[in-house]
Amino acid sequence: MSSIESVSHETRVFEPSADWQRSAAIGGMDAYNALCKEAETDFEGFWARLAKENLQFAKDYDKVLDESNPPFYKWFTGGELNVSANCLDKNIAAGLGDKVALIFEADGGEVTKVTYSELLSKVSKIANGLKGLGVKKGDRVVIYMPMSVEGVAAMQACARIGATHSVVFGGFSAKALQDRIQDTGAVAVFTADQQVRGGKQLPLKSIVDEALSLGGCEAVKNVIVYKRTGADVAMQAGRDVYMHALADKQSDVCAPEMVDSEHPLFILYTSGSTGKPKGVQHSSAGYLLWAMLTMKWTFDIKPNDVFWCTADIGWITGHTYITYGPLAVGATQIVFEGVPTYPNAGRFWEMIQRHSATIFYTAPTAIRSLIKACESDQKVHPTSYDLSSLRLMGSVGEPINPEAWMWYHKNVGGEKCPIVDTFWQTETGGHMITPLPGATPLVPGSCTLPLPGIMAAVVDEVGGDLPNGQGGILVVKRPWPSMIRTIWGDADRFKKSYFPEELGGNLYLAGDGAVRDKVSGNFTIMGRIDDVLNVSGHRMGTMEIESSLVANELVAEAAVVGRPDDLTGEAIVAFVVLKGDRPTGEAGQKLAMDLRNWVGKDIGPIAKPKEIRFGDNLPKTRSGKIMRRLLRSLAKGETITQDTSTLENPAILDQLGKPI
Ligand code: WTA
Repeated sequence: MSSIESVSHETRVFEPSADWQRSAAIGGMDAYNALCKEAETDFEGFWARLAKENLQFAKDYDKVLDESNPPFYKWFTGGELNVSANCLDKNIAAGLGDKVALIFEADGGEVTKVTYSELLSKVSKIANGLKGLGVKKGDRVVIYMPMSVEGVAAMQACARIGATHSVVFGGFSAKALQDRIQDTGAVAVFTADQQVRGGKQLPLKSIVDEALSLGGCEAVKNVIVYKRTGADVAMQAGRDVYMHALADKQSDVCAPEMVDSEHPLFILYTSGSTGKPKGVQHSSAGYLLWAMLTMKWTFDIKPNDVFWCTADIGWITGHTYITYGPLAVGATQIVFEGVPTYPNAGRFWEMIQRHSATIFYTAPTAIRSLIKACESDQKVHPTSYDLSSLRLMGSVGEPINPEAWMWYHKNVGGEKCPIVDTFWQTETGGHMITPLPGATPLVPGSCTLPLPGIMAAVVDEVGGDLPNGQGGILVVKRPWPSMIRTIWGDADRFKKSYFPEELGGNLYLAGDGAVRDKVSGNFTIMGRIDDVLNVSGHRMGTMEIESSLVANELVAEAAVVGRPDDLTGEAIVAFVVLKGDRPTGEAGQKLAMDLRNWVGKDIGPIAKPKEIRFGDNLPKTRSGKIMRRLLRSLAKGETITQDTSTLENPAILDQLGKPI
């Protein structure tokens, strides 16, 4: 694709140490290459071997991969298993009952440790409670909870009874929550009285009440409320029940409900380039297999590791690398509530020190904000803490710029910890392209090579292979076990969004641009090629924000674009045309603020535009199409050098070029 140009000229390479090559699960490039070869020569045999080594089926599967109805691929068909049993019962049977599963640290610093046996007991009680409320296999349950042992347990409890969960991030608004409750047809909602972030108590239960009052959520029979702060919240008789009141009286034995390999374990909503957020549906067996394999391959998880993924359970990273992956491999992990900057910007480093974390997995946006914070305050600099327990670090969610990578490597990892820059998506279920510690030479800013069995490639607009060195569209050529199965309730949209006809209909379209290095073949991700923004590692569809703005009675039209931002990666800039006159000066400032809050209330604070500009019109082609590339330049403050001959109203560029 000629429009994508690679800008990376990174030449620094970090070879794996001899120690790492010796000790890693996949040590050395030879071992990596052998696995890739195995996958290429006997694709199904490769996955069958790995499934046999990792999954516990109650009933064996008949077929590894059913490709009879592409792109609706099915894995391990005919098999039956339970994901929660594969995470808890299996490990307890193997002697890990007294091993700590979760080290939970609350916003205020209180620490709770939970062993595998204790977690199973907790999960079973909640599962029995759900059954008592009439929740059955196949029902959907929405989880709108803070980071907590209870949040993880609620997810596992759903898995235990075969209910499909859909976790909604606690920062989303009542409207966004209602959309998801309605779309899933959930029968129950888990929430908490409040959540605590950075010392502040924020509402949750009252937002659920508001969401349910918006209508369309009639299937919800119960709201289960975890008492986080003990705040007084309204409880509706017959509908609302406290989690402890429901669970405490239950038996701590709950036989796991066996489900089909393809049974939807969860639905997780994510933003796309068009329309409403998509309910990404994941399977049971294939998803769990990849969660386990990536824990072993990418994170080289070992029995004595203390693993810490800083994500929230509201995102895919929290699903795969908190609730399922670490538990399925019997690891000890840290779960934290709060923000990286409270009580101060040393929170991460202090927690690594306190709990002797060995593997640390976080997002570039957090790293960037902590770099900034410690510039002016040596006390919160990572080198002011004992981080010697660390042996491996990871990055996820957005491209990590090479300088942030170098800082992370030097100051957090003490130049001895490999960094795995993991490229993946809500839709892929787990890592896709990432270095393997002990094998892959690291290059700052590059996610390097696809995992064994992942047939990633860079192609042109019609799906033709591009040579290394030429930027293009990132695709995956063969199915993999943890791939998205469908968009909940919209199979057609699934097919069109991810296997578009333009590319031939059989390539998985990630939505990102990428380029491969001419020599090493390493992949570098060049960002989204669709109208999806990545703000602080969170995906936001420009359409979603535009729809929200236009829903305001004062707004006639809106166009939203991204602009590079030092801290958040991308920042949201909205160009707005009002029904009435274009406001300027103080009136403009005030209205911009109101509209920002409007979007915050409608979708959630993460969707608030950083800047709003008002115009009498938007730059459009003669056929009426908004010229977004021009808006992107204007948002960046660039002078327009592009061809504007197709523009109907060139004068508008001056007006939109300046901040209010
Ligand atoms: C981006 C998060 C560069 C990418 C797991 C992708 C990345 C989107 C990386 C998915 C990375 C994620 N390097 N870009 N290591 N990881 N992305 O669904 O644009 O929230 O398509 O999943 O984040 O975001 P999602």
